[in-house]
Amino acid sequence: MTLRFTTAGESHGPGLTAVVEGLPAGLTLTPDDIDRDLARRQLGHGRGGRMKIEKDRAEVTAGLRHGRTLGSPVALRVDNRDFANWEERMNPWPVDEPVEEVHLPRPGHADLAGVQKYGFSDVRNVLERASARETAARVACGALAKVYLRALGVEVFSHVIQIGSVHVDESPVRCLDLDASAALVAEIDQARKANESLGGVFEVRAFGLVPGIGSHVSWDGRLDGRLAQAIMSIQAMKGVSIGDGFEVAGRVGSQAHDEIFWSEEQGFFRETNRAGGLEGGMTSGEPLLVRGAMKPLPTLTKPLRSVDIATKDPAQALRERTDSCTVPAAGVVGEAMVAITLAGAYGEKFGGDHIDDALAALDAYRERIGWRR
Ligand SMILES: Cc1cc2nc3c(=O)[nH]c(=O)nc-3n(C[C@H](O)[C@H](O)[C@H](O)COP(=O)(O)O)c2cc1C
Repeated sequence: MTLRFTTAGESHGPGLTAVVEGLPAGLTLTPDDIDRDLARRQLGHGRGGRMKIEKDRAEVTAGLRHGRTLGSPVALRVDNRDFANWEERMNPWPVDEPVEEVHLPRPGHADLAGVQKYGFSDVRNVLERASARETAARVACGALAKVYLRALGVEVFSHVIQIGSVHVDESPVRCLDLDASAALVAEIDQARKANESLGGVFEVRAFGLVPGIGSHVSWDGRLDGRLAQAIMSIQAMKGVSIGDGFEVAGRVGSQAHDEIFWSEEQGFFRETNRAGGLEGGMTSGEPLLVRGAMKPLPTLTKPLRSVDIATKDPAQALRERTDSCTVPAAGVVGEAMVAITLAGAYGEKFGGDHIDDALAALDAYRERIGWRR
C-alpha cells in the first residue's frame, strides 16, 4: 500500500489536523519522534514573532496504541496557540460583532487568484489556508514516514545551500561551517533592516536506500517525478533539482554520469553521484540528493504596490506578521515531503501489513540483488 496523507487547518484557526494512511502495524513511535521535527521547523534565523507564540506539539488521536502503530490511519492534531488572539476573527461559528475584511492582496501570494477563484470579498478566507503554517502538519506526517524509513535502514536529512545571494558552497569547507553561517545570518539581518525578505536553496539527503525504489515503466511511477511534485508542492518553491540538476545540462556526457564499478566487498558501486541517487526514475543505491529553490517570502514589511479589491484604488499590499527568511524551516518541510514520498515508494515495493513483513521482503530483495550496503 502506498502512503497517503492529507492536512486540514487554517493559519490562525483552532488548529491543524492530519491523517496518514498506509503505515504498517508494529512501528514503535515516541511523542519526541514527532515533536522534535516540529521544533526544528520552528527554528532558524529570520523567523518572525509567530514562532515565539507557537510551541508545536502533536497530539495523536488515532492509529496508535501504547506507542505502536495499528496499521489503521494515524490522526494528528497540532493546536494553534495563536488562535487565542484570533477567536473572534477566525471562529468557525458566527460571532456577534462584524469582523473587518482584508482587501489588500499581496503580490506573490495566493490572495488575488484565491478570492477570484472562490468568490470571496475577504482575502483572509484565502491567505489563512495558503499560509505555510500548514507545513507544521506536513512535518508531523513526515516524522511518521521517517520512523517507518528508519526501521528499513533509511535516514533523511536536510541542510541549507544558499540564502539570498550567499552560497554555502563558497565556504572553504563546502559545509555549514561557522564562517558560512555567519555570512548567512548577516545576509538575513541586512535584508530585514532593508524591509526585504529572502529566499534560497536547501538540499535534502537520504541515506541507506536500496536500488530499484520507484520505476522506469510508467510516468507516474518515476521517483524523480514524484519527488519533484512533493518538493514543488511546498509553499514558495520555484525550482527543484536532483543531483547536479541544471548543471549537468551544460556538461559533456563523460562528465555528467556516474561510472559503474563492482567489487567483492561492495558489490556494485559508483565513485561519483552526479545523478543524485536516481537513474531511470529509480534509486541507484547512492545517497538521494534533492534540492528545492525557494523564492523570497511575499509578505513584506515595506509592502509592494497592489489594488484594494473593494474600491479598485491603488494601495499597498497587506502587512501581515511575517518571517523574513525561512529556508532552514523549508528544508525541514522538504525532509518531510521526501520522507513521505520515499515511504510511499518503499511501501509499494515491500508492502506488508506488519513492519516485520516489510523487513522480510526487504531482506529477500537485498539477497536477490546481492546488495551488501
Ligand atoms: C516554512 C515556510 C514559511 C513561510 N512563511 C512565510 C511568511 O512568514 N510570510 C510569507 O509571506 N510567506 C511565507 N511562506 C511562503 C508563502 O506561504 C507562499 O509564498 C505563498 O503560499 C504563495 O505560494 P507560492 O509562493 O508557492 O506561489 C512560507 C513558506 C514556507 C515553506
